Amino acid sequence: MKIVRTPAAMSRLAAAWDRRVVLVPTMGALHAGHLALIHRARQAAGPDGAVVVSIFVNPTQFGPREDLAKYPRPFRRDLAVCRQYGADVVFHPEAEAMYADGHSIVVDETLLSGGLCGQSRPGHFRGVCTVVAKLFNLVRPHAAVFGMKDYQQLAIIRRMVRDLNFPLEVIAGETVREPDGLALSSRNVYLTPQERKQAPVLRRALLLAQESFRAGERDATVLRFLLENELSGAPLARVDYAEIVGAADLQPVARIEKPAAMALAVFFGKTRLIDNIVVQPARSKRPPPRSRKTP
Ligand code: PAJ
Repeated sequence: MKIVRTPAAMSRLAAAWDRRVVLVPTMGALHAGHLALIHRARQAAGPDGAVVVSIFVNPTQFGPREDLAKYPRPFRRDLAVCRQYGADVVFHPEAEAMYADGHSIVVDETLLSGGLCGQSRPGHFRGVCTVVAKLFNLVRPHAAVFGMKDYQQLAIIRRMVRDLNFPLEVIAGETVREPDGLALSSRNVYLTPQERKQAPVLRRALLLAQESFRAGERDATVLRFLLENELSGAPLARVDYAEIVGAADLQPVARIEKPAAMALAVFFGKTRLIDNIVVQPARSKRPPPRSRKTP
């Protein structure tokens, strides 16, 4: 496994690729969710292809009061797991090398970034798009893998690839969870034991709402009520948002008539957890049953 530490060296290596390359962008502190993406990349690259894992805690996507300084950086451990999971290249640049003094060009997505996480993290997706565009230019992958856990991020990257004509395929990786349903996240280590105990409430709320959707409920107000009601049963949880949006355009919907994402962001203390579930109405000619009452 090769470790590449500068953008210039990454660019030189990419210019010489003569095989299929699949990129997995990460900020390190790798857990089983990241490993599943590396595994997915390995499959997509094929036996002769190359898997590149980037490990870069990107400063431009953190707000001034967020956890950039204390974000976990267990680099040696990360390298060992990348090696074990069959990565061919780890790209680990310094922030100063990625962002030259006075860097002044950014990539700003203007439709999907405003709601959900974009509302409480202004500028976050500008930082994500800018760094991911830079990674695409440096690594020149044929495909890149992103997790469904960060649903808004995935939708925005798909839009960026389409709108800026990046010649690559975006592959979505399933969310990997703890046995009690909590989605794995590098930030789970911040939770106190009591918070950790209550954190699976996100998944429980989403499953409840999904069950109601499957039983025929299409009214977003009712489904949002179910989400919020379940979350309110966890005394340490403070809801940032509980939304139901179109799966591709991320705009709030009143009724679910087409694929939709139910998305949650919940604070436990200072730690903000997110999760989501995608629901799809069956493609039948009969209209879905109408709910009679909204609470
Ligand atoms: P990071 O939070 O390290 O996540 C890297 C990738 O792992 C993302 O695509 C994310 O969706 C995915 N991931 C996180 N938790 C997961 C889980 N439980 N199951 C499956 N996949 C999971 O997301 C970022 O970094 C950054 O914003 C980045 C895209 C690297 C740009 O800086």
